[in-house]
Amino acid sequence: MKKIVYMDAAASWLKNQSVIESESDFLTNSYANAGRGICERASNVDKMIADVRHSVANFIGAEPKNIVFTSGTTDGLNRIVNIIKNSEKWFDKKPVVAVSDLDHHSARMPWQAVANAGWCDLVVCPLDSELNIDVDNIPACDIFVITAMSNVLGAAQDVERIIRVARQKNPDVITIVDAAQFVAHSKIDVSKFDCDFLCFSGHKIGADTGVGVMYIRNPDDFYPDKFGGGMVNKITDSGKWILNQAPEKFEAGTLPLTQIVGLGKAIQLLSYADDSSKLMRYMHDELSKIHGIKILTKPDACVLSFVVENMHVLDFGVMIGAHDICVRVGNMCASWIHKKMGLDGSIRISVGPWNTHAEAEYVIETIRKMVK
Ligand SMILES: Cc1ncc(COP(=O)(O)O)c(C=O)c1O
Repeated sequence: MKKIVYMDAAASWLKNQSVIESESDFLTNSYANAGRGICERASNVDKMIADVRHSVANFIGAEPKNIVFTSGTTDGLNRIVNIIKNSEKWFDKKPVVAVSDLDHHSARMPWQAVANAGWCDLVVCPLDSELNIDVDNIPACDIFVITAMSNVLGAAQDVERIIRVARQKNPDVITIVDAAQFVAHSKIDVSKFDCDFLCFSGHKIGADTGVGVMYIRNPDDFYPDKFGGGMVNKITDSGKWILNQAPEKFEAGTLPLTQIVGLGKAIQLLSYADDSSKLMRYMHDELSKIHGIKILTKPDACVLSFVVENMHVLDFGVMIGAHDICVRVGNMCASWIHKKMGLDGSIRISVGPWNTHAEAEYVIETIRKMVK
């Protein structure tokens, strides 16, 4: 197999062999559907899913009933819009939804779409001079979408404080945290965050694609957005129904069982104490010495984003790709923060526990030659 340097962890995390083996073992030896069969094999799958739900709940300081499996962050963030819309009892007027320029397209576009249709008004929460959420100027709102860590700037936001201030302005505000990037770098405690919803994707912490988590603080207060098998307890003669309890009532249809098994393993393996931050800081220091490179991120950020004078980011991507180095280039589905910085896109390096110092040296040296 061709050897490459993979420094695109923020796009998707490489998979540990034991995650791959856990999925393979499930498919080979234990596979059955969940929530449907009563034979021993099916019951064992139910137990496996319940165990992973339990570990995910522990992982973020929640209870299993708050954990809904989704297909990823984008799926969760879109579903939350419909889940909230289905529960209009929350609002006696058109709600105000606050977003920010740190948002990924997946966090802001679903709200933009319903605002365009006239369902809500959108306000943009300002950023401070360091491009963090400006905690002193959080607008009063009914729904607040908070990007816990921008995928371009890699700085952890003080979610706890942001939510505290938002609640001072409106005690009933519904808060939604996009933790897609944050989850790979910092411990999440939803009770400390005090958030109502939180989403992340499995594939950004070493699990497979196709599985994600949507945390709902008060699942009994909300009505499902999807209907089908597994979420209904009984259809009555009059055509009404009795739904299952949460979280099942939010999980219509067959779950991504294999990926859920891999997620359980990935969570066991995730460590916030590896050398990635040292490597990022080293690369930040070295790249900042190269004339023509403008670094956009802080030395302690979880990603290293930059632009090169007189070189289009896509040209940079092609050139560095020819050296078997994988990094991300473009707008990174985060157009607003790029516009705010007066850019169309940038180049992003993000490392994982598999990256070595020697690889960092190779990447720095390659960039030095490319930019000369
Ligand atoms: C901050 C942020 N939010 C949301 C997403 C969307 O995640 P997914 O594509 O896994 O649904 C990403 C992916 O890059 C992201 O970085």
